Amino acid sequence: MAHGPGIREPECVVEIRVLTPDDWATWRRLRRAALTEAPAAFGARLADWSGDGDRPQRWRDRLAIPDSRNVVALLDGDPVGMASAVPTSEDGVVELISMWVDPVGRGRGVADALLGDLEQWAGSSGARVLRLSVAENNAPAEGLYQRHGFAYTGEFGGLMADGLHREVIMEKRIT
Ligand SMILES: CC(C)(COP(=O)(O)OP(=O)(O)OC[C@H]1O[C@@H](n2cnc3c(N)ncnc32)[C@H](O)[C@@H]1OP(=O)(O)O)[C@@H](O)C(=O)NCCC(=O)NCCS
Repeated sequence: MAHGPGIREPECVVEIRVLTPDDWATWRRLRRAALTEAPAAFGARLADWSGDGDRPQRWRDRLAIPDSRNVVALLDGDPVGMASAVPTSEDGVVELISMWVDPVGRGRGVADALLGDLEQWAGSSGARVLRLSVAENNAPAEGLYQRHGFAYTGEFGGLMADGLHREVIMEKRIT
């Protein structure tokens, strides 16, 4: 059955899976796909994770950040999305990074499921604030985060890889 824009397919099932360092190959595949498909959305570049930068131990270390949570979303069993929550230098503040949904899975609630899982985990770990950086020209991501209750802090992060756009910082207070 065809669906119009903005209408979620009711039959799709999103499952969240928590990764450990042993799952590095799954994370690597998704992350390299993300940096290839959406280079303007991330501070990291594919080149940073290619060649000498593309080592199993480096991917393992990425998934072994203490007090972090790294998740993938499965849509009907296939990994189509990823995101992480990592600690910051500020007590009680958790940062969300590496959010990506494969184009085949967009508009179907995958990012909602990723954000929901990470927010619940952060809250139950005692965090008070979720923080993230988003490129100032990334309207779909900004819309997603606003819909989930994130607000602009007025702070800016670094310059994106395109050398033109900056990151804007958004936060959400959690209870
Ligand atoms: C941003 C992103 C994670 C959203 O994932 P998603 O699972 O499609 O999320 P949603 O279904 O909630 O859709 C988010 C927005 O994208 C729009 N969208 C829906 N289907 C879409 C599609 N096929 N293609 C592009 N955007 C689409 C939605 O309309 C929605 O906008 P709204 O909140 O203003 O209504 C995804 O588009 C993505 O991975 N983009 C590239 C990487 C990126 O920007 N990551 C965030 C870095 S901060």
